[in-house]
Amino acid sequence: MPVFDLRELDRPIIGAPMAGGPSTPELAAAVTDAGGLGFLAAGYRSPGNLEDQLGRVRELTAGPVGVNLFVPDSLEPDPEDVARYSNSLRAEASALGVEVGAARNDDDGWHAKLELVLDARPEVVSFTFGCPESRVLATLAQAGILPMVTVTTGEEAQQAVAAGARALAVQGPDAGGHRGAFDQRTIPTDRPLADTLTEIRSQTAVPLAAGGGVSGPDDVVRLLGLGADAVQVGTLLLTADEAGTNPLHRAALTDGRFAETSLTRAYTGRFARGLTNRFIREHADAPAGYPHLHYVTAPLRAAAITAGDADIAHLWAGTGFASARPEPAAAMVERLSPTR
Ligand SMILES: Cc1cc2nc3c(=O)[nH]c(=O)nc-3n(C[C@H](O)[C@H](O)[C@H](O)COP(=O)(O)O)c2cc1C
Repeated sequence: MPVFDLRELDRPIIGAPMAGGPSTPELAAAVTDAGGLGFLAAGYRSPGNLEDQLGRVRELTAGPVGVNLFVPDSLEPDPEDVARYSNSLRAEASALGVEVGAARNDDDGWHAKLELVLDARPEVVSFTFGCPESRVLATLAQAGILPMVTVTTGEEAQQAVAAGARALAVQGPDAGGHRGAFDQRTIPTDRPLADTLTEIRSQTAVPLAAGGGVSGPDDVVRLLGLGADAVQVGTLLLTADEAGTNPLHRAALTDGRFAETSLTRAYTGRFARGLTNRFIREHADAPAGYPHLHYVTAPLRAAAITAGDADIAHLWAGTGFASARPEPAAAMVERLSPTR
């Protein structure tokens, strides 16, 4: 069955999936209606909630949409490492009036969410945190859905294409939020996106979306010139009117208080890039262990957001965050697009 082709977008801009609130049906529809490709982020959501979002986005737009899923990971971190890290957060938690959460693994509703997308048939389903089995990618393609895998290196790209990915999201080291590296234990590469993209373009003919650190139209032109078929933009859309970004996060991106970003596993046990705050600086010792640490820090993160405490809350951001501004998503997509 034919699947959606990223090269057919009116504008080569993908609104990156952003789990944890920012990705809304309204944001996805606005990006799509502006000629790009909007995404829903299934991560952390219940299957029922995802189903509602899928219904809503179809009401809002007749254009193509994508859905992004987290690939489950069976890694079990050393319980002693997790206990030591949890204990180091107890004082921080009690100052916020909460307790640290219990560490656990789960599959983020993997099977239920796969069934849902097979039923709802968004044009694109992308994955992060690993490469699904070939069977999953083939089933999606047979249903007319473009199966896309997030990769951070040439080796991951080869593995994904061999498994049946029909498009790749090539994520560079400057990207906001979690790195999609297949192996969460490895220190993520800091090789420039341009180099990884060039390598992957020379290996494969599948459509490529590239992203990470985009701060304006020049970055888009540069990535397209290196062989990307579309550019995936996250951080700049965090301040879009239609985004569900919480007010603390929104303000931190634009109020000039934070000057830089860093890569940390302090919040979730998986490397992610965020605005460099006190929590990141003081908890550089966090072990690998996603989603275990995600559950350990969840009460702290929620309490910090409620309390408006930007020293503790996770404030995901890519290196291009200083260009984020409040505006309709369509204006952002238009501003980033090469003139035709
Ligand atoms: C707040 C936030 C949440 C994110 N959540 C996801 C996600 O659920 N799935 C995913 O594949 N990527 C996620 N990402 C990464 C984006 O897909 C993309 O790689 C990144 O935003 C691109 O870099 P930029 O933020 O510098 O534009 C997230 C990024 C941010 C900033």
